[in-house]
Amino acid sequence: MSIHFPEKSIFMCDGSKCGRHKEVRRYIKDAIKEHHAKDRIEIFKMECSDRCKHAPVMFVQPTNQWHSDVTIEDAEKIVKDLLL
Ligand code: FES
Repeated sequence: MSIHFPEKSIFMCDGSKCGRHKEVRRYIKDAIKEHHAKDRIEIFKMECSDRCKHAPVMFVQPTNQWHSDVTIEDAEKIVKDLLL
C-alpha cells in the first residue's frame, strides 16, 4: 500500500501565541486552495516550538526554512516560493 506524501509542507505552530494569528493561517490555507496546490503542498499543525516571542512561527519543508513574526506579506512570499 502506498501513501501520498506532499512535495512540500508548511508546519504552522498552533500554540497559544501563534494560534492567535488566524489571519496568516487563513491566508496560507486559502492561497494554497486557490492555486489548486493542495496535492503538492500540505499544511500541518505543530505544537509550540518554544519561540513564542516570534509568533507566528512556521517552517517549510523540504527546505527547512523557518519563518518568524510572519505577516500577511510574508505569507504571500512563502506561498509564492512554495508554488515554484
Ligand atoms: S505558540 Fe508558537 S512558538 Fe510557542
